[in-house]
Amino acid sequence: MGIEVTPHYTVPGLAAQDAGSVIELLQQRLHALNDLHLTLKHVHWNVVGPHFIAVHEMLDPQVDRVRDMADDVAERMAALGGVAYGTPGVLVEQRTWKDYSVGRADAIAHLGALNLVYTGLLEDLRALIKTVAEIDPVTEDLLIEQLRDLEQFQWFVRAHLETASGNLTTAGATTEIEAARQSVQ
Ligand SMILES: [Fe+2]
Repeated sequence: MGIEVTPHYTVPGLAAQDAGSVIELLQQRLHALNDLHLTLKHVHWNVVGPHFIAVHEMLDPQVDRVRDMADDVAERMAALGGVAYGTPGVLVEQRTWKDYSVGRADAIAHLGALNLVYTGLLEDLRALIKTVAEIDPVTEDLLIEQLRDLEQFQWFVRAHLETASGNLTTAGATTEIEAARQSVQ
C-alpha cells in the first residue's frame, strides 16, 4: 500500500510487526466500509418505482450500522498504534474496486446491483478473518461480529431477488449494470 504501518508501540503482548500487518489489513476494511455506507446512501437517494419506500427505508439502518463498523475498525487500528486513513482521497487511491455504477433506477434494480457489492465485500471479509485469526484473535472477534451483520444485510437484499423456487433473478450476472437489468426483467 506504500504506507509504513509498523507502529512504535502496540497492545501488550503483540509484536509490532504483527500489529503492523493487522493495521494494513484493517485499512482496506475501513475503505470497504466507508465506501459501503456512502454507496448505501446513494442507493437510498436514487431508488424509484413501486418499491421505493420499502427499499428507501430498509437502507438507513444498514447505513447506521456500517458507519459504526467503520468506527470500530478505525479505533481498533488506533488502539494497535496505527493511523486510520478515512479521507475520500486516500480511499479512492487505495481501493481495489470500482465505484458503484448505477444512478437513478428501479428499487429492485439497485438491489440486484447491491447484492453484487455485498458479495465482493463479504468474500474479502471472510478471507481476511482467516488471515487475521493467526495473528490477533481480538481483531478476529470484531470482524466475525461484523460479518454476521453484513451477511444478514445481504439476505435482506437477496430476499427481494429470490423466486419462489429459491433461485436469484440475478444469477450469473457479473457486473452491477447486468444484475440491475436482470433483476427487473
Ligand atoms: Fe434519508
